[in-house]
Amino acid sequence: MTWRRTNFDPCRVLDAARESFLVTTADVDHPTIVWASPTFTTLTGYELADVVGKSPKLLQGPRTERAVLDRLHACLRSGSDFEGETWNYRKSGESFLMRWYIVPLRDYEGVITHFVGVQRDVTIERVVAREDQQMRSSLVPHEPAVVVLDRQLRIAIANPAAGEILGSNPIGAAFFETDLAPPDGATRDELMRAIVIGRSHTVEYTLETASQGPKILALACSPVALAS
Ligand SMILES: Cc1cc2nc3c(=O)[nH]c(=O)nc-3n(C[C@H](O)[C@H](O)[C@H](O)COP(=O)(O)O)c2cc1C
Repeated sequence: MTWRRTNFDPCRVLDAARESFLVTTADVDHPTIVWASPTFTTLTGYELADVVGKSPKLLQGPRTERAVLDRLHACLRSGSDFEGETWNYRKSGESFLMRWYIVPLRDYEGVITHFVGVQRDVTIERVVAREDQQMRSSLVPHEPAVVVLDRQLRIAIANPAAGEILGSNPIGAAFFETDLAPPDGATRDELMRAIVIGRSHTVEYTLETASQGPKILALACSPVALAS
């Protein structure tokens, strides 16, 4: 039995996938969209009806790199797979770093009938990787403790001083559930609010450390902006 003969509907996989899928005509110079998955709408803000019959170029803008598009075009022409990364734009105008690959869909005679693009927003991953590199090269091994949180308020980066307070593997921990976060109360709410709205803020509180007793901690938070 091949997978084609099972009763399972593969469309359900597309609905469940985190990646966004876009199918275009096989016109290599002017591919136009014939279908987009629901995740495409989540990613870009465009409904299916907004994009059918249009070019995927509607996602492009001033920060989209021409060299990447030229490489993509060459891949379409030669019928080979493409994989790349560039800035794209949501319907709202917000830019994001898109990583995507494109593969030709062929019929049983090997003729290309469509192209399919599989897309993913990698903005956060790239920013965290870049900040991680900058932090590693600039941080001193002891005080102060520095952590970088992702948008889910989980620890993406922790320097050794933060590691001493937080334990061996703090990466991925929810910041407000760690020992470094202020204990319950107004201080905690203030800090949480400042982080969520992206405002710089400093709070002071007492941290009970197992080895060194109580320590007064001043915690300064600032949003990390995307470099353009
Ligand atoms: C299946 C498919 C998906 C595509 N998805 C995107 C995309 O998500 N973002 C993007 O900037 N370009 C995307 N493109 C590329 C553009 O449609 C276009 O091919 C590219 O800009 C090269 O054409 P140009 O030389 O006229 O600019 C996609 C193309 C295809 C065939």
